[in-house]
Amino acid sequence: MRGLIIAIDGPVGSGKSSTARRVAELLGYTYLDSGAMYRAVALKALRQGIPFDAAAQLEALAAETRIDLLAGESGQRVLLDGADVTAEIRTPKVSQFTSKISVQAGLRVHLVAEQRRVGAAGGVVMEGRDIGTAVFPHADLKIFLDASVEVRAQRRLAEHTARGEKITLEQMMGEVHERDARDTDREASPLVRAADAVLVDNTAMDVEETARLVVMLAREKAESRV
Ligand code: DC
Repeated sequence: MRGLIIAIDGPVGSGKSSTARRVAELLGYTYLDSGAMYRAVALKALRQGIPFDAAAQLEALAAETRIDLLAGESGQRVLLDGADVTAEIRTPKVSQFTSKISVQAGLRVHLVAEQRRVGAAGGVVMEGRDIGTAVFPHADLKIFLDASVEVRAQRRLAEHTARGEKITLEQMMGEVHERDARDTDREASPLVRAADAVLVDNTAMDVEETARLVVMLAREKAESRV
């Protein structure tokens, strides 16, 4: 029997990446970070000076861009047209620009097609904003992760501080609010909880607890399919 398709969606700092990666590890599944794909296209657009609202140019850019997500010992590596951009796609500037270009439906078509290609065979944990609603509306298990905005901003702040970037909690809260609003209010595949997604609020849970809860739900799903 094929492995499950597990969709994990949620806002900035809800722990999607770390949870999805750990769930994939525990189940022996493939992990796919869809946000990294949007970030890679955003970085390329920034480098080429393409404005965030140039819909046709962004769509063409997504169509001609090759993005590889490689599982490495020290986490996932992201290759943009063959070059490693793992660190570069995580700066605040790229985060904001990514959220701005992600409203473009034309660009999304190309990335969604690639995500479906990777996940179609099952045995995959995919995380993002629209996995359970648009990419895999028939996913076997859908999780909507959330946490309080303070905790989400603190998690992001810790990531930035660890990389030596100077940013205050107030600035981070502002960024999180801004990105939440843009990701939620856009017309093309907005961040919304699918009706059949399990809501997991992990404000008071760590990654391991969250991942084990998801694994438990996945095992229940797998058993009910037999
Ligand atoms: O998960 P992340 O922070 O790496 O995502 C960066 C941005 O990419 C996010 O603000 C919105 C966009 N995104 C999206 O529109 N759809 C997805 N499935 C994943 C990310």
